[in-house]
Amino acid sequence: MVAVVGKSAEEAVRWLKVGEPVALPTETVYGLAAPLTCVNTIQKIYSLKQRPANNPLIVHVLGLEDFVQVAEVSPLARALAENFWPGPLTLVLPKKSIVSDIVTAGQATVAVRSPQALLFREVIKKMGVPLVAPSANKFQHVSPTTAQHVFQDMGDVLSYILDGGPCTFGLESTILSLVDENEPTVLRFGPITKEQLETFLGRSIKVGSHSVENKEPHLSPGLYKKHYSPKTPLYLVSDLSHYIPEPKFSHVFCENSARIYLFPPKKELTHNEFVLSYTNDLKEVASHLFGVLQKVDLMKFSSIWIEKAPAGGIGNAINDRLSRAAHFNLSL
Ligand code: TXA
Ligand code: MG
Repeated sequence: MVAVVGKSAEEAVRWLKVGEPVALPTETVYGLAAPLTCVNTIQKIYSLKQRPANNPLIVHVLGLEDFVQVAEVSPLARALAENFWPGPLTLVLPKKSIVSDIVTAGQATVAVRSPQALLFREVIKKMGVPLVAPSANKFQHVSPTTAQHVFQDMGDVLSYILDGGPCTFGLESTILSLVDENEPTVLRFGPITKEQLETFLGRSIKVGSHSVENKEPHLSPGLYKKHYSPKTPLYLVSDLSHYIPEPKFSHVFCENSARIYLFPPKKELTHNEFVLSYTNDLKEVASHLFGVLQKVDLMKFSSIWIEKAPAGGIGNAINDRLSRAAHFNLSL
């Protein structure tokens, strides 16, 4: 099978109606979608992605009306949804019975978000049912931020990829657990920052454990310590400009190692140097990160050196993905 890449929401709906998962654009990353109520199509998502069955899926809803159908929505959850949706915030709550065990990996809770991307919303509307969607990549591969990335990773096993252009945020949604109302907990850093949530809630919030083992369903089962890693050895450092081109740093500066800067360095770039944001904008760093890492990984360098973002805000989400991707973390 070779996937068709197209721009037709109708075509995506046609495939979903015959039981085929389709790749759809969201504002975070591309998702691989199936209707909430079609267990067979959802099962196919797990097998096409080679995803362990203990890693539950996010349910994508249009808004509050379908939110209350899938989860026990507390006043706090409603307030968060009203403020941050549609957008890249996923809320974890006790599930309702319409959500099958295959979606939640047998847990009594469900993760729900309302995507912003218009094409994705159009497909939910036309299907008349929420869609479950993990990122449209094979297990432990990088989350795709363009239709072409989806095609490279999964084009051989999919029927249809709906092309909505590059994703605005480029990092997966923030996950906030409200399972214990007294202790809202960030399970995954993302585009909605912990600081934004704390300002809205008027209190500090916890951060859940990020290093979990690949065994039982756990607090946030998808948060494996190793998430995505390039094939090329990746070194994470605190600031590339601390490394100066002298013999003691020849491993960083050899012709065959790539260097990825957050912002333009105060020097001419060489053929093996890359910049994530020419406008010194961390949001742009986030949106380019996965695409640039993937591109540089294919260029067959012997190593890749990348620098950490300043802590706080979206920097936390960037550093979270970088520390999971890095083989060697020299920034600690
Ligand atoms: O931005 C996103 O969230 C994208 C787009 C497509 O919406 N989706 C995404 O899905 O990143 P995925 O499957 O790659 O990551 C979902 C994460 C996993 O870490 C999973 O363990 C966690 O959500 N999750 C799902 N249900 C959960 C639950 N009931 N409790 C805790 N974590 C849950
Ligand atoms: Mg994923």
